[in-house]
Amino acid sequence: MSVVESRKDMLSALLLAILLFDCNFLQTAVSTSVTYDSKALIINGKRRILQSGSVHYPRTTPDVWPEIIRKAKEGGLDVIETYVFWNYHEPVRGEYYFEGRFDLIRFVKEVYKAGLFVHLRIGPYACAEWNYGGFPIWLHFIPGIQFRTKNDLFQGEMERFLAKIVDMMKDENLFLSQGGPIILAQVENEYGNVEAAYGVDGALYVKWAAETAVGLNTSVPWVMCAQWDAPDPIINTCNGFYCDGFTPNSPFKPSMWTENYVGWFLAFGYAVPFRPVEDLAFAVARFFERGGTFQNYYMYFGGTNFGRTAGGPLIATSYDYDAPINEYGFINQPKWGHLRDLHIAIKQCEDHLVNANATQISLGENLEAHVYYRSSNDCAAFLANYGSSSDATVNFSGKSYFLPAWSVSILPDCVNVVFNTAKVISQITLNDEPFTRNITMRESSLSSASWSWYKEKPGIWGNSSFEASSLLEQINTTKDTSDFLWYTISIDVDGNNKQNQTNEVGLLIGSLGHAAILFVNKQLVAFGYGNHDDASFVLSAKVDFHSGSNKIEILSMMIGLQNYGPWFDIQGAGIRSVVLAGLQDSEKDLSSAQWTYQVGLEGEYLGLDNVSLANSSLWTDEGALPINRSLTWYKTAFLAPEGNGPVSLNLSGMGKGQAWVNGLSIGRYWSQYLSPSSGCSEPCDYRGTYDASKCLKKCGQPAQTLYHIPRSWLQHSENLLVIHEELGGDPKTISVVAQIGQVICGRISEDHLPPADTWERGVGFVSTTPQLRLACETGQRIASIRFASLGNPQGSCGAHRLGSCHADVSSFVKQVCVGEERCSIPVSMDTLGDPCPNLTKTLAVEAHCLG
Ligand code: GAL
Repeated sequence: MSVVESRKDMLSALLLAILLFDCNFLQTAVSTSVTYDSKALIINGKRRILQSGSVHYPRTTPDVWPEIIRKAKEGGLDVIETYVFWNYHEPVRGEYYFEGRFDLIRFVKEVYKAGLFVHLRIGPYACAEWNYGGFPIWLHFIPGIQFRTKNDLFQGEMERFLAKIVDMMKDENLFLSQGGPIILAQVENEYGNVEAAYGVDGALYVKWAAETAVGLNTSVPWVMCAQWDAPDPIINTCNGFYCDGFTPNSPFKPSMWTENYVGWFLAFGYAVPFRPVEDLAFAVARFFERGGTFQNYYMYFGGTNFGRTAGGPLIATSYDYDAPINEYGFINQPKWGHLRDLHIAIKQCEDHLVNANATQISLGENLEAHVYYRSSNDCAAFLANYGSSSDATVNFSGKSYFLPAWSVSILPDCVNVVFNTAKVISQITLNDEPFTRNITMRESSLSSASWSWYKEKPGIWGNSSFEASSLLEQINTTKDTSDFLWYTISIDVDGNNKQNQTNEVGLLIGSLGHAAILFVNKQLVAFGYGNHDDASFVLSAKVDFHSGSNKIEILSMMIGLQNYGPWFDIQGAGIRSVVLAGLQDSEKDLSSAQWTYQVGLEGEYLGLDNVSLANSSLWTDEGALPINRSLTWYKTAFLAPEGNGPVSLNLSGMGKGQAWVNGLSIGRYWSQYLSPSSGCSEPCDYRGTYDASKCLKKCGQPAQTLYHIPRSWLQHSENLLVIHEELGGDPKTISVVAQIGQVICGRISEDHLPPADTWERGVGFVSTTPQLRLACETGQRIASIRFASLGNPQGSCGAHRLGSCHADVSSFVKQVCVGEERCSIPVSMDTLGDPCPNLTKTLAVEAHCLG
């Protein structure tokens, strides 16, 4: 080889090396980064339209996580979002807990295994109807601390926890740049809603939080939700029922929606909120139509507030939220299916949405189109009728399209409608309706179970009591070690002073919340309580004091620490005034008298909920089972229901309290608190702007009667049930409820669109026949067909009737569906026969699935 040749070789080797280096560099930069521009998040070099859903890991058990995530993926989600719950991860400062339901790493890895991304909302403030918004109670006791503002002590703790979580994720290679699933992180939560209450320090705190987050070098973008002043490069995102009018605070940021409420949370004493899927789908379609790029359902699966995790005040134990996956992990239809169809339709437009800008075209009053052109003859379009009452037929590109009121049609090729938000073809599932309960639920009464009990006495029960000459604030006193605080005092009433004929002696008790039972001379006299929106209350009771010394004992209760609002952490609870009224001389204010206190209940102190005390002689079964008695602990054993389906406890015959299964708390219950008898609307018109009070059910009933027992908490042999009843109830009314099946219904007309997933770009609809699709829950099969009619069937799921035109297609449907987990029936007259040739026919089928 000549010198020249060898120099040439060296040069080309160098060039190759540079090229390779460049390629590798590009490769790394492109393949494992998350960035963003005005159009979208850019993942692995590609702009993405992302559907996301909230699943909070501690609101179910780890054995169920893979199933929930699988259903989320099948429902068309790309991302799972969760908060991180500081108070359970660091119950004592410096002592961490990441086990069981709180095994965050395992949860993130489960999402990764399913091939989905993670949005980690580290906060550390969560809100989330979670006790104290996720803040550890010990934080409150650091002298000089002020939460969520410029305060060195708070900022130090917040930074430490943020760094702890980020480091844990890095150590496990869980950020996308490390090959993991995390593509986004959140600092703080909706601080913009409360910022003004913190004055100038609020704005400084926002700036600090942003800088601190960015300084943690996660390699993924950070978001701050509902934070108009989020500093660059943090993306400010929208939260709300609708976000299609949202614009981020910089032209370089994408339009992202971090909380799209699929329903609303439940509080004791309230009716149950739900959100019709037609409206939810409309909100989502409008968001993407108008330039949105990332959308998260809050919640996609809500789950359960086990133990004392519920926030407050008065947040219920169920966190079902009317989510696409229900509290028990079952698919909630038609919500899940209709959204899945919507996600398919939006995905079919993804390339156009991220690579083109919208051209907006007015189609008339309340009618418009947004068209995304990649070239003059290659476009995707959304047609919207955002009027809430009038259906319309619009002309778009020379064709006419029918648009029901409050709906959006999606045309991935600007011609074919593959989806309309108001036309639901997904099946309906009835899980727990009174008219199908006997075939979907198996209820085992505990009336003949053998019960033991422990009767608590009102008032001071042990030697840890203490005195103070004022009424103490409850959280500062209990440190949230218990829901309960006893306020007790003895008063002397002399005969002369006692009563005249006209005045009644009464006690007026003012409380900051949340509830209180008044005992006088060991007798229950009155019960007072607030509500979620205002937990304070006044309890006024007429009291029959006797001459001499009288004992006043007030059991003040908290039902979840406040989780929302400016300065929520110092809102406080407990009794704040006690006045004796109607004495002959004058009123007597007892508020500054000498009170004796005790934190917690005797039964809690004894540990009656523990499995280790199940055989203790503290429990008795001698004499008659006490019923309708306050402050009573009950214990029994029950067998786990057969099968794998959801299990719950029906506590409708109880008052208020808490229940434990095998030593684990399934949450607080409150069956005696009925919701207002009016204000419900079922069915609820989906058209028009939705808010949390628009669509309610279960008026005049308890917010909740069934309390979820996770399957993994049950053993095959006997299971220990312990109940603490605070007000009075009858444990013989309790039953164990197992879900054994479902009633499912499908209904579709012959002129309906074929399903969105049968459409392909450049091909059109692969099948032209609409299909009626039915699917049971995992593990169940169609056992029978309860109704099948082609014609103009009447009624609704669970209550179908034949119409004037009817072909009995039951035997065909049975043949196709019975014994199957899922089936689909083409709505074709050729196959089914035509009962009335001049009518547009509908096929309706009702099936019974059994596990
Ligand atoms: C939001 C908050 C969420 C949740 C929601 C209501 O304001 O960010 O964490 O509390 O309200 O369910």
